[in-house]
Amino acid sequence: MDKFLVPDDEAEFRTLTERREELEDIGKNCSTNPTMGDIINRRFSRRSFIGGSLAVAAISTTVSPLALLTAEEARAEGGAPTFDFKEIEAGVDETHHVAEGYDADILLRWGDKIFADSPEFDPLRQTADAQSRQFGYNNDYVGFIPLEGNPDHGLLVVNHEYTNAEIMFPNFARIEKVTEDGKEEDKVVLGEYTKELVDIEMAAHGGTVIEIRKVDGKWQPVLDGKYNRRITANTEMQLSGPVAGHERVKTPSDATGRKVFGTLNNCAGGITAWGTYMMAEENFNGYFGGEIAEDHPEYKQMKRLGAPGGQYEWSKFYDRFDVSKEPNEANRFGWVVEVDPMEPTSVPKKRTAIGRFKHEGCESIVNTDGRVVLYSGDDERYDYVYKFVTKGTYNPDDRAANMDLFDEGTLYVAKFDEDGTVTWMPLVHGEGPLTAENGFASQADVLIDTRFAADALGATKMDRPEDVQPNPKTGKVYVMLTNNTKRKEGEIDAANPRAKNAFGHIVEISETDGDFASTKSRWDVLLKCGDPAVAEVGASFSTATTKNGWFGMPDNCAIDTDGRLWVSTDGNNEKDTGRTDGVWAVETEGEGRGTSKLFFRVPVGAEMCGPSFNPTSDTFFLAVQHPGDAGLATYEKPATRWPDFRDDMPVRPAVVAVTRQGGGKIG
Ligand code: FEO
Ligand code: CA
Ligand code: CA
Ligand code: CA
Repeated sequence: MDKFLVPDDEAEFRTLTERREELEDIGKNCSTNPTMGDIINRRFSRRSFIGGSLAVAAISTTVSPLALLTAEEARAEGGAPTFDFKEIEAGVDETHHVAEGYDADILLRWGDKIFADSPEFDPLRQTADAQSRQFGYNNDYVGFIPLEGNPDHGLLVVNHEYTNAEIMFPNFARIEKVTEDGKEEDKVVLGEYTKELVDIEMAAHGGTVIEIRKVDGKWQPVLDGKYNRRITANTEMQLSGPVAGHERVKTPSDATGRKVFGTLNNCAGGITAWGTYMMAEENFNGYFGGEIAEDHPEYKQMKRLGAPGGQYEWSKFYDRFDVSKEPNEANRFGWVVEVDPMEPTSVPKKRTAIGRFKHEGCESIVNTDGRVVLYSGDDERYDYVYKFVTKGTYNPDDRAANMDLFDEGTLYVAKFDEDGTVTWMPLVHGEGPLTAENGFASQADVLIDTRFAADALGATKMDRPEDVQPNPKTGKVYVMLTNNTKRKEGEIDAANPRAKNAFGHIVEISETDGDFASTKSRWDVLLKCGDPAVAEVGASFSTATTKNGWFGMPDNCAIDTDGRLWVSTDGNNEKDTGRTDGVWAVETEGEGRGTSKLFFRVPVGAEMCGPSFNPTSDTFFLAVQHPGDAGLATYEKPATRWPDFRDDMPVRPAVVAVTRQGGGKIG
């Protein structure tokens, strides 16, 4: 128990994924802006003071006074139906589990054919050519775009965030005794990279667009679908918006500053009202190698983003990934990419107006006034929550008119005040500190150096913002804050004893009058995560939450057609919580607010990504990412061989389609 009560965060990594995540998380936010922890602490202590007996009750029952107060408010409004599924048991084993009465069918696995003429998956003879016509690795975001409004037939779009070479390539990684600090330990050691392996990795990144259809109640890919497409780290893309053509995005191979190849580390994403597929570029820094001189003009911003991260060997074979050779190439990543899936040969556009940072996701919503609002978290300790509001308005009758909406508008960053106000501060060149004297010569500089601009505005430092999801039914917005174990004791006060935020929390923003473009709104904490039975953790699930129902490390989320929240997690397994990651249904309204139930859990080593519903919410698409990546995992010895369980097949990330037996809404 102690192990996860006071997690020894950075000292112990058991898997390469954990090590990679830590290495990625090396951007530096040196601004003096207050942390989200500071703000929550002040706010809770203020409420406790006002709340009196409620605050006392909170200490003994684990229900936060905040949850009780908001539950009362919510009761007055009524709410969505509660979840009626029978909760599953939390645990850790080699396979996935879904609530009784539901089927969880494997829909697409790494290596599966995407086209009728794709080669069959042959794990012992992988090639880049084959991989670029097969389903990619590490499925993360999943979105469904109905064809002709049909909820049972549409396009599935899937991000392929990164690759795990150690469990992906045969005869590549081995377990060796390594001596570090005088201590001998078994470690997974990677073999020598060849250009062929790097090319396979590049082809396994990006995204997939594939037609799928429900036949006799079961989903299946349509391999001859005319929209089917693979996007990779080499697909031609266009920079569009204020940064396109700027000097800082010109490279030896692209004098126009507009033509880019590939997208990297696409974590979460979104689907727009006009049916485009938005891919967030997250930890792009890790793909760059080489060294950049400290007096180079790009050095500081690269440092702030943790570039070059050197977690891949691509720079050995491709100069564009070597910052000493082509320093501007890194400025062409870290954006949100918009793909028109209805045109399989269309050139995806990197929408620079939305800013450059480690975008976890990019979920959008059409506002009451027709403008489109896109939310995005910057996933790093002490980084920020953003939203972008388009200048133009959505035209439901003219799809083409919407295609470049994301090229013009205003990017905002959030400041959370202790009185419950959230202020969205515009990142506009010439306004406030965003001037030439402060290093921002134009809007292009503001956008390339989004983090610096947000620092200058005094944005609130958050505990690793992941998915940020607007709820069209309620006007609320959910911010997944996955964890921040670096938060210091000194940033915590007695009323909110969460030194080292190992389990994360969820912030709920109530946009004023349901106006998502509002620049002043309210915020609250929906949940502080972790085991509520361990008082020192300070979790705030409702008392109706069972021992299976709590979770840590919220990462992605989805809203169903009833406006209910579903949260997926990343990291429970790694912190010895006795449970793998999974999907939990979380009540946000009414008396049950703060109650969470476990619906689905992943096999050992995996994280849960991609939760997404079809338009009738009778299918729940879930992505099982990096399964088998636990302990000393190699291709030959993964922690599980999910989902095939065949000796001649490696463990394979896969998308699962969950349906209710006999039909009907999920949950
Ligand atoms: Fe790719 Fe922020 O998780
Ligand atoms: Ca994520
Ligand atoms: Ca989401
Ligand atoms: Ca994560």
